[in-house]
Amino acid sequence: MTGAAGGLGLGLAAGLSDRGARVVIADIDTEALGEAESQLRAAGAEVLAVPTDVTKSDSVAALADRAFERFGRVDVVCLNAGVSVRGRSWELTVEDWRWVYDVNVFGVVHGVRSFVPRLLEQGAGHVLITASNSSVTTLPSVAAYISSKHAVLSLAETLRQDLLAAGSQVGVSAVLPGAIRSRMADAFRRRPAEYGAYRVDPEVVDRSKAFLAQHGMDPRVMADGILQQALDDHVFCIFTDSGDSAMLEARTEALSAGRLASVDMLVNKEVK
Ligand SMILES: NC(=O)c1ccc[n+]([C@@H]2O[C@H](COP(=O)([O-])OP(=O)(O)OC[C@H]3O[C@@H](n4cnc5c(N)ncnc54)[C@H](O)[C@@H]3O)[C@@H](O)[C@H]2O)c1
Repeated sequence: MTGAAGGLGLGLAAGLSDRGARVVIADIDTEALGEAESQLRAAGAEVLAVPTDVTKSDSVAALADRAFERFGRVDVVCLNAGVSVRGRSWELTVEDWRWVYDVNVFGVVHGVRSFVPRLLEQGAGHVLITASNSSVTTLPSVAAYISSKHAVLSLAETLRQDLLAAGSQVGVSAVLPGAIRSRMADAFRRRPAEYGAYRVDPEVVDRSKAFLAQHGMDPRVMADGILQQALDDHVFCIFTDSGDSAMLEARTEALSAGRLASVDMLVNKEVK
């Protein structure tokens, strides 16, 4: 489970533990990871915490090694870590784009490369990839995040197609959450120095935090619904908010007609 120190990742870890799984939690935020480990253990989970930077292929490979060494097999791989930056497309720095793509896209790529060959050897397993409801729409001021999440959804689709073509039983689900009550609005706090400084607008951050606190779904509740759909009902594309699939239809209809999809229906919907 990557990005497991809080938010949806921690919710998924707790949900899997309640289903009887032993869980491996991974995150770049070592302090929050330690707190998550204690919280899960106090609730009765068997848990291994592995500090991990998903932007680094060797760090994710080491995570896979630790998980297989400790538990012998891995049944569910959750590639969930994600970050966002705000700003107009032309104002985001190269480092802003790189950070978002390194975490959101390459984090998934490294996870697929490190875990899927071993799931194929096992002959079973499920890969749960956290995309976003913004994987099927577009909005201004979040170009790096939204375009990265479009890439994440298509990565999940092509992974599933590759596995089916290889005759594998390994499953894949793409999760397209709506707003989550999480700390995503201040993701910049965990931005490594190699990506340079981020010009934070405290007002925008406060607005985003307030939006998630007020409208975000409880991550644990969301996680239970996701796990049921992915593991029990074998749903490939999991929306968490009813009505989000309408955004996909609206965009497809607009693009098919040669128009830019209108954001009118989304003006009150903040995308993280
Ligand atoms: N918050 C929302 O409203 C929302 C909506 C749609 C999709 N999502 C997606 O859900 C996922 C979980 O987000 P969340 O809302 O729980 O936010 P969150 O900030 O609570 O969780 C993201 C976690 O990823 C970790 N992380 C960041 N960089 C990392 C790295 N390099 N290596 C390892 N871990 C790293 C963070 O430390 C954090 O614990 C993300 O992929 C996000 O894009 C969130």
